[in-house]
Amino acid sequence: QATETILGIETSCDETAAAIVVRDADGTGRIVSNVVRSQLDEHAAFGGVVPELAARAHVAWLDHIIAQATAEAGIALKDVDAVAATAGPGLIGGVLVGLTTAKALAAALGKPLVAVNHLEAHALTARLTNGVAFPYLMLLVSGGHSQFVLVCGVGDYERWGTTIDDALGEAFDKVAKLLSLGHPGGPEVEKAALKGDSRRFRFPRPLLHENRLDFSFSGLKTAVRLAAESIAPITDQDAWDIAAGFQRAVTDIIGTRTRQALERFSMEFPGQQARIVVAGGVAANKAIGAALREVTQAAGAELVIPPPALCTDNGAMVAWAGAERLALGDTDRLDFVARPRWPL
Ligand code: KG4
Ligand code: ZN
Repeated sequence: QATETILGIETSCDETAAAIVVRDADGTGRIVSNVVRSQLDEHAAFGGVVPELAARAHVAWLDHIIAQATAEAGIALKDVDAVAATAGPGLIGGVLVGLTTAKALAAALGKPLVAVNHLEAHALTARLTNGVAFPYLMLLVSGGHSQFVLVCGVGDYERWGTTIDDALGEAFDKVAKLLSLGHPGGPEVEKAALKGDSRRFRFPRPLLHENRLDFSFSGLKTAVRLAAESIAPITDQDAWDIAAGFQRAVTDIIGTRTRQALERFSMEFPGQQARIVVAGGVAANKAIGAALREVTQAAGAELVIPPPALCTDNGAMVAWAGAERLALGDTDRLDFVARPRWPL
């Protein structure tokens, strides 16, 4: 196998991103350029991502972002060996912008297209950053997803648990909104929680008593809302205490479920080093990171948290998933249809 250079395109949410990644003959990868333009400012006034605005911003910016990615890599478009783009799941308008651009480039350059599942891209990132070997567990906690996935190989995934209502990042964002802490809410709730007393409010841990690896965050969010509404007027200290109580419930939930997932991993793969990789924007949360370190250490498992810029949405993860698929000869036809929903 030869060295291959892949262009990766990501437009499934509110990041317009493109990257050049090289996969060497020995299967290791390196990021040559990784350009991300966040649309935070476009959506800030609305307190969340507005799909139509997101799609229009991708149209306006994607060409420039791709040009910047190739320029920073010091290559021309004709030098890429394949074009990879997120083809779902995600906001369909944005996905169509990225996928259609990738198809046009692939057709014009005469190079293969790889239509990448966004979740697969998150799942394989730890192989790019840390060379993690199969099998391993992935905990994906982002604004759109909260799930445990067993990763056995490229294209070989088994979902062990998911959220039955809100995603964890979404819960952080809604709690931030309830407490008027700003958007995106995750980092704001984390900051507020540092100043709060996590024992003042005792919030529920929905579903945690059930013997399954699923999550539920909507009841927790409602409890937070009721607590906030029970105090009027609400002071800064009240908001900080509520944020701290919320975050403590979340770290309990994530810690417990991760311990259970690692137990299952050890039962299914006896004698095998247990490994878990974390992906998604919520992986940046330090309290959650500390809880994960504690349970993985106790279980003798290996914990891999890629750098924050590669945990959140980016083009390098899409390029890398494209590289892994290309190495297996697994490319897609130009009539590949974008998928708003696409479970692994
Ligand atoms: O992976 P991501 O950048 O985008 C997708 O959803 O795909 O994740 C964004 C989510 C947002 O909900 C944001 O509030 C949350 O990750 N987040 C955090 C933190 N930083 C970002 N949640 C908790 N603590 C953080 N420090
Ligand atoms: Zn994502």
